[in-house]
Amino acid sequence: MPAIVVLGAQWGDEGKGKATDLLATSETIDFVVRTSGGHNAGHTIVINGEKYATHLLPSGILTPGATSVIANGVVVSPEALFRELDGLLERGVEMGGLVVSANAHVIASYHSTIDKVTERFLGKNQIGTTGRGIGPAYADKINRVGIRVADLFDEGILQQKVEAALDVRNHLLTKVYNRRAVDADAVVEELLSYADRLRPMVADTSLLLNKALDEGRTVLFEGAQATMLDVDHGTYPFVTSSNAIAGGVCTGAGVGPTRIDRVIGVIKAYSTRVGSGPFPTELFDDDGLNLQKLGGEIGVSTGRTRRCGWYDAVVARYAARVNGLTEFFLTKLDILGAWDEIPVCVGYEIDGTRVDEMPMTQTEFHHAKPVYETFEGWNSDISGCRTFAELPKQAQTYVQALEDISGARIWGVGVGPGREQTLTVHD
Ligand code: GDP
Ligand code: IMO
Ligand code: MG
Repeated sequence: MPAIVVLGAQWGDEGKGKATDLLATSETIDFVVRTSGGHNAGHTIVINGEKYATHLLPSGILTPGATSVIANGVVVSPEALFRELDGLLERGVEMGGLVVSANAHVIASYHSTIDKVTERFLGKNQIGTTGRGIGPAYADKINRVGIRVADLFDEGILQQKVEAALDVRNHLLTKVYNRRAVDADAVVEELLSYADRLRPMVADTSLLLNKALDEGRTVLFEGAQATMLDVDHGTYPFVTSSNAIAGGVCTGAGVGPTRIDRVIGVIKAYSTRVGSGPFPTELFDDDGLNLQKLGGEIGVSTGRTRRCGWYDAVVARYAARVNGLTEFFLTKLDILGAWDEIPVCVGYEIDGTRVDEMPMTQTEFHHAKPVYETFEGWNSDISGCRTFAELPKQAQTYVQALEDISGARIWGVGVGPGREQTLTVHD
């Protein structure tokens, strides 16, 4: 299997880190590649009971035999990159190699300043961003005033580009937000301070990955964020600023769509969301609190409590469609072991009309009321199960029912955070 995509099918935090780690260690994966987002991601990997979190780095960094790649579509904060690498080095982690695209855009400190002041300015309309400067860095990229990794190796060019980027930004900061202007020379100095350490890691990652695929090597693309946070296909404007869907892998890595063999959508057995925006199955009662508590639903990057709700099959079918999913990896089934009955959203009612597909407009989505079908719970701890047959009958029925209504087969099921706490439904 040369090219595999792993991505989020809901609003993020589905367990992409676990799925990536599982594939990276169970199959011979040569490269693990991030193609979008930045250190707004927080991916958890649990190896032999030891917990790790990756943000900007691909989770493959924990697989010594694999090379990790940060491709052109990622926005790279050099400060966050080295902080993360140093954190792993301090823990004595054995790491694989790391390659960073020369074309990836750089997040400088002014991007996170702008991210935070913009959010404050939006007040009750804020997006609830991670404050990492992701949106402003992508905005500069689209406005053609971005700084790219290769620019760090040419001081003259870097100075020109930082000045151009700050020209309009400083007017905005001083005149609209009443803030101090950012000093271009200080930004250049800070960015140059990372250049020597970064230089040996930098390459043409599109060339590297296409050559690898030509040689029949296996490449795993590790999605960040998720389908419903995609800037085009998510719940705009309550989204991130990149394409988190499968299509984003092609632009974000410079790899053509014909090269992709499997697209795996990671999906929780219930739903969560961090930050603002519509969420039809959100629960405001004890069930919501219990999902949050039992599922440990606290953000890995920001420590924010995640909003919780039941599984939404409309979202699942939408994710299957816009990503062309070949399969799902269903996580956190074990968390549902505390319920007698488990509701699943099978469709919506929007202004009195039953709807089975994602509505066309955001206004309709805001009005969507979930239509539930209820399944019998299994009321037991399934975290020790290792085969589908070992699951209680009710859990098997729940998984099969989700498969029937979600638009793609379920390849594997997670019954705990550990690598080994996984069972295969279909080979
Ligand atoms: P990601 O951003 O998609 O990689 O997901 P996060 O790491 O942000 O959040 C997923 C959380 O669920 C992490 O704490 C994982 O360790 C945990 N997790 C993943 N799969 C399972 C599972 O099957 N069962 C349980 N109980 N926890 C899981
Ligand atoms: P992983 O990869 C969950 C959310 C933020 C906010 C919105 C925009 O761990 O699944 P941004 O800082 O990207 O401009 O914020 O997107 N968000 C995530 N939510 N998991 C993530 O990553 C997220 N990355 C961004 O909470 O609502
Ligand atoms: Mg996460």
